[in-house]
Amino acid sequence: MGPCGARQLTGAMTHNTADDTARTTAHDTADDTARPTAHHTTGCTVQNAARSMTVVVTGASGRTGGRVARAAEGAGLGVRSASRTQGFDWYDASTWADVLRGADAAYLVYPTDVGAPGAADAVGRLAREAVALGVRRLVLLSSRGEERALPTEEALRTSGADWTVVRAAWFAQNFSEGPLVEGLRSSGELVFPGGEVQEPFVDLRDVADVVVNALTEGDRYVGRTLDVSGPRLLTFREAVAEVGRAAGRELTYTPVSARQYGEQLAALGVPPEETAFLVELFESLLDGRNACLSAGVQEVLGREPRDFAEFAREAAETGVWKS
Ligand SMILES: NC(=O)c1ccc[n+]([C@@H]2O[C@H](COP(=O)([O-])OP(=O)(O)OC[C@H]3O[C@@H](n4cnc5c(N)ncnc54)[C@H](OP(=O)(O)O)[C@@H]3O)[C@@H](O)[C@H]2O)c1
Repeated sequence: MGPCGARQLTGAMTHNTADDTARTTAHDTADDTARPTAHHTTGCTVQNAARSMTVVVTGASGRTGGRVARAAEGAGLGVRSASRTQGFDWYDASTWADVLRGADAAYLVYPTDVGAPGAADAVGRLAREAVALGVRRLVLLSSRGEERALPTEEALRTSGADWTVVRAAWFAQNFSEGPLVEGLRSSGELVFPGGEVQEPFVDLRDVADVVVNALTEGDRYVGRTLDVSGPRLLTFREAVAEVGRAAGRELTYTPVSARQYGEQLAALGVPPEETAFLVELFESLLDGRNACLSAGVQEVLGREPRDFAEFAREAAETGVWKS
């Protein structure tokens, strides 16, 4: 069942050797202007503990990992970036220990999709190895309403780690970074199987802030599943219109079936297994199950989530949607 069925509030790189060169250099784009968040710290103890923490950030060159790395550094944590650039490969377990050893915590983001084939097995194995190496505090990025993500979440929960799952709504940044950008930029059109379904797009800065708060606030969010969304439901058509207004150009949205979308992906050379996975994912996720707000951002950060309009305005300033 998706999060709307039962509306609930579930909810420093001190490896000190080669890691220093691997410290994230993730881009400081305009959308990353720091905004004060209510770190629910309980005083100096937690802050000092956080300061001496080293967190492994998987996917640190990606959309969420880059923001988590910056937010963690901003909170005084040591950050150890971990992606293939640093020799860490989710598909090769022999690369995991070097990255984990000596760290205190890790942010886990499984490439492509948290519900992808092999994700549960890899996350479970990595989490158990992390615990064995003394890296007990693990935060996994998951996806709201995605049934295929549940075994991955369960693999983390049963690993022996002090776990937190952060289940995110669709990212607002899907419109400015990643596969949805090209159509909007080049032809002014988003062709997507989103129908007229509503989604509370979440800003990735809020996701990153929630992750870092979960890491720095002691046991407060251990054993918790935090659903995070933006503050407002929008259809993909409405989101594209907001992007168009912010970008100062007319953009259109053309809904297609998941199957038609899959045919386009196949024509673009996406491998058949990946296409089949995405078709099934979109068919299930975009059926209205996620058409509700979640309160994780408010609970953890003590403020409202960033609005989609704020995201669109700031992303437009970077020129990302200019043809
Ligand atoms: N899109 C959404 O709306 C949404 C919503 C909720 C949850 N999610 C979840 O978000 C996750 C994707 O996160 P993201 O958008 O931050 O990722 P992303 O921007 O696509 O970046 C992927 C990151 O993973 C690294 N990577 C790729 N393959 C790897 C491998 N084999 N081993 C190690 N690292 C690898 C990449 O770096 P290198 O290339 O250097 O390895 C990169 O840093 C998925 O699990 C998805 O289910 C997405």
